[in-house]
Amino acid sequence: MSETTTPADPVYVTDALIGEDIDAYLDTHQHKTMLRFITCGSVDDGKSTLIGRLLYDSKMIFEDQLAALESDSKKVGTQGQEIDFALLVDGLAAEREQGITIDVAYRFFNTEKRKFIVADCPGHEQYTRNMITGASTADLAVILVDARKGVLVQTRRHSYLCHLIGIRNIVLAVNKMDLVDYSRDVFDSIVAAYAAFAKSIGIDSFTAMPISGFKGDNITTRSPKTSWYAGPTLIDHLETVEVNSSLDADKPFRLPVQWVNRPNLDFRGFSGLIATGTVKPGDAVRVLPSGKTSTVTRIVTMPAAGAEPGDGDLDRAMAGQSVTLCFADEIDCSRGNVIAVADNPPEVADQFEATLVWLNDAALHVGRSYWLKLGTQMVSATIQEPKYSVNVNTMEHLAAKTLELNEIGVAELTTDKPIVFEPYTDNRTLGGFILIDKLTNATVAAGMLNFSLRRSQNVHWQAIDIGRAAHAGLKNQQPAVLWFTGLSGSGKSTIANLVEKKLHRMNRHTFLLDGDNVRHGLNKDLGFTEADRIENIRRVGEVARLMTDAGLIVITAFISPFRAEREMVRGLIADGEFFEVFIDTPLSVAEERDVKGLYKKARSGQLKNFTGIDSPYEAPAKPEIRIDTTRITPDEAASLIVDKLLGDA
Ligand code: ADX
Repeated sequence: MSETTTPADPVYVTDALIGEDIDAYLDTHQHKTMLRFITCGSVDDGKSTLIGRLLYDSKMIFEDQLAALESDSKKVGTQGQEIDFALLVDGLAAEREQGITIDVAYRFFNTEKRKFIVADCPGHEQYTRNMITGASTADLAVILVDARKGVLVQTRRHSYLCHLIGIRNIVLAVNKMDLVDYSRDVFDSIVAAYAAFAKSIGIDSFTAMPISGFKGDNITTRSPKTSWYAGPTLIDHLETVEVNSSLDADKPFRLPVQWVNRPNLDFRGFSGLIATGTVKPGDAVRVLPSGKTSTVTRIVTMPAAGAEPGDGDLDRAMAGQSVTLCFADEIDCSRGNVIAVADNPPEVADQFEATLVWLNDAALHVGRSYWLKLGTQMVSATIQEPKYSVNVNTMEHLAAKTLELNEIGVAELTTDKPIVFEPYTDNRTLGGFILIDKLTNATVAAGMLNFSLRRSQNVHWQAIDIGRAAHAGLKNQQPAVLWFTGLSGSGKSTIANLVEKKLHRMNRHTFLLDGDNVRHGLNKDLGFTEADRIENIRRVGEVARLMTDAGLIVITAFISPFRAEREMVRGLIADGEFFEVFIDTPLSVAEERDVKGLYKKARSGQLKNFTGIDSPYEAPAKPEIRIDTTRITPDEAASLIVDKLLGDA
C-alpha cells in the first residue's frame, strides 16, 4: 500500500472514548467489521458529491473541501483530479495483488460502527473492466439514479455487472430528491421501474432510498423532507448490512493452501486464508484434489512465510482469517490444494462452463492456452468458441466467435489438470478466476465458473498395462519430439527428412509429421487463419504426444508461427523429451528460394494470411537447437540435430 496523506487535524479527536480509555478505544476500532462497496453511476448522477458527502459526514474530509467538491463535482470526479481529498489512498496496490491493472479509485473511511472501502469506478461502457474490478471485492453496490431521469441504460448495465460479479446487496439510491421537491410519486415510480428490471435479471431484493448527496438528505440523518419514507439512512444501512465474511462463515469449510509451513522437523502446517466456513481442532478434513482425509490437531495463527509459527493456538477459526492448520496424519498437501470439511468437499473437474469478462486489447484466441489462476491454483486452460456474448445494455445474447475488450460472454473451457472449485454463485473464492496471457503476463480476462461439464466426470482414464516405458523399452530408445519451426521455405521439411533418414539408419524408430502432408488428412478441415493455425498445432501436439507414448522419436515440420502454441505443446510432452528446433532462415532468403512459388503469390495478393508477409512469425527465444541455414548445409544441420538429440537423450 502506498503512503497515505493525513489531514492537518487528527480525525478521531471527537471520539469521547479515546480520552477515557485508550485500550477500549483501540479495541472497538480493531474489531470493527469492514464493508467494501462500489458506487455506480456517472458524475451527472452525483456520484462524486455522494462520495464527498460520505467522507465529509464521517469527518474524513473538511468543509472547505466538500464545498469545492460540490461547486465543481465534474472536475473532482474525473480521474487524476483527486487532490482535493485529503485521505485518498492509492488503491493500486490492491489491484496489483489481484493482477489486474485498472483505474479504480479506492477511498477509505470510518464511522463509529464500521470501516469502509468505496471503489469509485468510471461508469461508461468502455470501462466495463474497471467496474468489474471494483465490484469483484465488493459486498454491496450503491446504484445511483438521478430522480429527474429515472432508470437509464447505464443503471441497467451497472446493476447487471454488479449482480454478475456476485454482489447480493444492492442499494438503489434515488438521488437529487431536492430537485423533484422530494416527491413520493417520483420515487415510487422509479422504484417500480427498477423492480421490474431487477427481477428480470435475477436480483431478488434491493433496498431503495430517496436521498440528496448535495443537501445531505437521508445520508447520515433522516430527512424531514421525506417523512413518507420509513427506511434507513444510507449510513445506517451501510453500517448494519451483513457483510460477505459473516455470510461466508456459515458455508462449508474451505481453505485454499498458500504454502506448507515446515520451520523445523517437529512442525508441519498448512497456511492460507479461510475462504468459507469455520474450523476447530478435532474436525475431520479432506485435502483436494487427492481426497486424502485427516483430523485437525492445531490451529496456529499464521506467521510470515518461512518464519517460526506464532505461539497463539486458536480453538476456532472462521472465514476471513489467515491460519496454519496441523493434521494428525502425514498426508500430502501442498500449495494450490484445498482443505475442506471431510463430508462435504467441493468438486474437482477439468471442464467447465464459465462466464468471461474480457479485459485486454487483444481479443480472446479460441484454442490458445492461457494461465488460469483460481485462488492459489494455477493451471493451463483453453477456451472454446463462446456460446454467446451479452449486450451489457440490453442483456441480449448475441452470437460470438471471440470476445473483445470489455465484452462479456459464456464459453466452455478445459484445464490441463483438474482443479478444485465451486460455482461462483456459491463461492467467490473457489469460483472466480483470472486468465493470464502466457507471453505478455497480462491479465486478459476475469471469469466465473458456472458449473462443471458432466462429460469430464464421465470420461475416465483407462488404465493400460503396457505403458510408455514398455513401448520405449522394446524399441530400446528414449522417446522424443524434434519440433521444427520456421518460415515456409526455410528448409524444415528438407532437414527433417535427412534427420529421419540418419536416425533410421541407426535403427531408431521414428515418425515424421509434415505440415503439408498432415494438412491433406487429419487437418484437411483447417486453413491459415490464426484460429486454424492454433488448432493445427494443438492436434499435431496431441498426436506427437501419443507417438512418444508409443515409444517413437517424432519429428514434426510445421511453421508453427506462434510461441504460445509451441509452449503449449512443450507442456504436453514429458520433461526432457521436447526439442524445439528453430530453422532460422531470414525471410529474404526464404522468399528468394520460393520453392513452391507461394511468396510470389502472397506478394501479388493472390494468397492471403501468408506467414512472414501478412501473417506474423514469432521466432523462438530459447530453442534447444538453432540452425542457421545461411551458414551450414542441410546435411550438416541434420548431423548437428542428431548429435544433440542422442547426446542429450
Ligand atoms: S502452420 O502455420 O499452421 O504451422 P503448416 O506448417 O501446417 O502451417 O503449413 C504450412 C504450409 O502450407 C506451407 O509450407 C505452405 O506450403 C502452405 N501454405 C498455404 N497457404 C499458406 C499460408 N497462408 N501461410 C503459410 N503457409 C501456407
